[in-house]
Amino acid sequence: MTENALNTQQLDTRNKTVLVTGASGKTGRRVAEAAEAAGFTVRAASRSGAVRFDWYDPSTWEDALRGADAAYLAYMPDVGAPGAGEAVGALARQAVALGVQRIVLLSARGEDQAEPAERAVRESGARWTIVRASWFAQNLSEGPLLDGMRAGELVFPAGEVLEPFIDTRDIADVVVAVLGAADDRYAGQVVEISGGRLLSFRDAVAEISAAAGREIRYVPVSAREYGGALTEYGVPAEEAEFLIELFETNLDGRNARLSDGVQRILGRAPRDFADFAREHAELGVWKA
Ligand SMILES: NC(=O)c1ccc[n+]([C@@H]2O[C@H](COP(=O)([O-])OP(=O)(O)OC[C@H]3O[C@@H](n4cnc5c(N)ncnc54)[C@H](OP(=O)(O)O)[C@@H]3O)[C@@H](O)[C@H]2O)c1
Repeated sequence: MTENALNTQQLDTRNKTVLVTGASGKTGRRVAEAAEAAGFTVRAASRSGAVRFDWYDPSTWEDALRGADAAYLAYMPDVGAPGAGEAVGALARQAVALGVQRIVLLSARGEDQAEPAERAVRESGARWTIVRASWFAQNLSEGPLLDGMRAGELVFPAGEVLEPFIDTRDIADVVVAVLGAADDRYAGQVVEISGGRLLSFRDAVAEISAAAGREIRYVPVSAREYGGALTEYGVPAEEAEFLIELFETNLDGRNARLSDGVQRILGRAPRDFADFAREHAELGVWKA
């Protein structure tokens, strides 16, 4: 993937430390890798990470932030979850007070529920950039949906809606380009990023199925049915209700469009879903 790697020549990362939240997750892990490759000193933070950081325990925030020059914020479990605005705002204000120069908030395209978190970071006094991403390709290769994929059936409430799945490595490259920019060109900007091709979930699963050489089916269900299954699996009712609303709104077709942020910031096209499927199939991710 060297030809696609982030061009680090125009970055100013020497002697700079970046706090990466969610550093073992789908985006944070790649942000940490890309930031290190770009010359940043990386502070990899999560509840169980090298640097302890818990969004729900503000006493863990100061040690994580102190001495950092930049921060990547991925709010858990979702940027639009109840309480995200308060927590992101409080953390961003503390970051400013501790001298953190730049903040990137990971947000989601078309997600109205993310507005409080976005507003909070904009009003925090930080030099902020909001990166709004489309649906991740890696939602199909890690995390809660992987079990279904391995079992040969993705049950999901996305109907036949089109989505430009983004590879989280592209998110990482954009985040590092923003946090490491030699000037403030991205400060105060909302950057929308997506993959380069619209696919239905049925198309995406079919591409993975072909790459993996085994049958994996897509089974669309309603958001309500999906939420019911989540509660049966032990997801708290309040969380399931939030997810139902999120899927009903975000998967209603509003995101069936491409965004040019990857090309604009990185000067190259987004990674293609077919490459994601092939590379992860070669790694055996979807073996039964
Ligand atoms: N999925 C999508 O398609 C999509 C699209 C756009 C935006 N987003 C946004 O992306 C974010 C999720 O990022 P992701 O998918 O990279 O994460 P992820 O893969 O779900 O990983 C979760 C990471 O966060 C840590 N974590 C979990 N709970 C935490 C807590 N209470 N405090 C601190 N760290 C915690 C985990 O490590 P520990 O267990 O060690 O704490 C892990 O490193 C959300 O804000 C979501 O709204 C998602």
